[in-house]
Amino acid sequence: MPHAKLRAPELKPVNYSTTFGEFIGIGPNGNLFVDGCDVQDLAEKYGTPLYIISENQLRHNYRAFRDAFQKYYPETEILFANKSNNGLAIRHIMNQEGAGGDCFGAQEMYMALLAGTNPKSLVLNGSNKQDEELEMAVANGLCINIDAMDELDRIVEIATRLDCDVDIGIRLKLDLEPLRNRTGVAMHGPGTLKQQSDSTKWGMSREQTVEIVNRAKTMPRINLKETHFHLSRMSNDPADFAVMAREMITWSGYIRDNTGWTPPCIDIGGGWTFGKWYGTGPNSQLDGPNAPKPDDYARLCAAAIKEEAEKLGLPLPKLRLEPGRALSGPAGVAVGRVGAVKTGTTKKWVNLDISTNHLSWAAVLDWYYHSVPVKNAGAAPTETVDLVGPLCNSDEIGPHRQMPALARGDFVAFLDAGGYTESSAARYNAQLLPATVLVSGTSAEVITEREQLKDVAGRFRVPSRLLAGSFAP
Ligand SMILES: Cc1ncc(COP(=O)(O)O)c(C=O)c1O
Repeated sequence: MPHAKLRAPELKPVNYSTTFGEFIGIGPNGNLFVDGCDVQDLAEKYGTPLYIISENQLRHNYRAFRDAFQKYYPETEILFANKSNNGLAIRHIMNQEGAGGDCFGAQEMYMALLAGTNPKSLVLNGSNKQDEELEMAVANGLCINIDAMDELDRIVEIATRLDCDVDIGIRLKLDLEPLRNRTGVAMHGPGTLKQQSDSTKWGMSREQTVEIVNRAKTMPRINLKETHFHLSRMSNDPADFAVMAREMITWSGYIRDNTGWTPPCIDIGGGWTFGKWYGTGPNSQLDGPNAPKPDDYARLCAAAIKEEAEKLGLPLPKLRLEPGRALSGPAGVAVGRVGAVKTGTTKKWVNLDISTNHLSWAAVLDWYYHSVPVKNAGAAPTETVDLVGPLCNSDEIGPHRQMPALARGDFVAFLDAGGYTESSAARYNAQLLPATVLVSGTSAEVITEREQLKDVAGRFRVPSRLLAGSFAP
């Protein structure tokens, strides 16, 4: 019987006048609320730029994925992509929910273990794993997804030396022939989904996979556990994910026929979108009432897997998924304060103290498209402005946004900013990294401290020979 406090809580969505999520919306006073907290109060109290995460929204997003896949598929395990938000509190919440995790690199693995995640629910991915990284994974019992021909020997050497067994998977380079002419988001350069996928560094070919499996079968200490693929965020269409899931099974048939080993588990990675019903996003397929939901993904992927497995006479494998953005993204908002408002001949710029350092995928992929004023969040837009940050580049965090009139001191929030913001934040122009506040009901707690000047300046050193005579005569 788990400790009462550790049980994942029941969730009761909040009744907002306008909803941006089950736990994010416009509150009774017209301001933007995250769960039971007024974002205006949070921004004033904790300062800006500020990330705010709704604990209940995060839990809700996880459960929506889990429940959808469990509805259509017998054995499913959701591994949260830790890279989307590395916060220790976030990982603790995922642990409580029963989520596993995808770790990329030694530090993500360390943080997940530090948060007490069950290592057997963690996988280590990576195309260039370091010796100490492999050793940490072997010693702690993670499943390692092999992504290089020499990795197996390195793992065996470590496992033998440490005298322990190790679970391995193989990251595949699927052919994706049926996606030869499908286009989507230019995530990995130009080209169709197949061309983009082929051009990335990840995965082993069919022949390489067969060689690894045949060698692994003869090696001590090695347990073959899964095959892995990550379609990435190239497509927002669930049908493309179903094609990928089917191809995982086609490959399982090929592997069985050539090695005698049938993968008992397929891990179909992340890339699941967080398209929303509100507003009009930059990609028509990403936003609007037809934005794909977990149910759409689950239904189509489960059907494709079952159909292909039956055709090839394969048992249904366990299914693993690694959603990151779809879970953490809509659980967070990022808030900036308005400074200078400037009108030019062709444009109006609203300067904020939040920047592309803090919303780094804003400029590349328009991920944090939805911006709302924090006060009077439902006010009708009256003008088109560019929301810009303070960096010494154009720092466009929200070009061509329809907003009501904004003035110095107002706060602006970017929705769906819980993923890949804090975890990919940068310090360009010696900016300090923002704080993060976790909201649950009416409580708000800092889970990441705001960086201070000492954290930035403190890492620099001046060789003693330069200390005197810094000024030219
Ligand atoms: C192997 C792997 N799994 C999962 C993810 C998570 O992707 P997303 O956040 O789009 O779901 C990534 C993202 O880069 C990844 O590389």
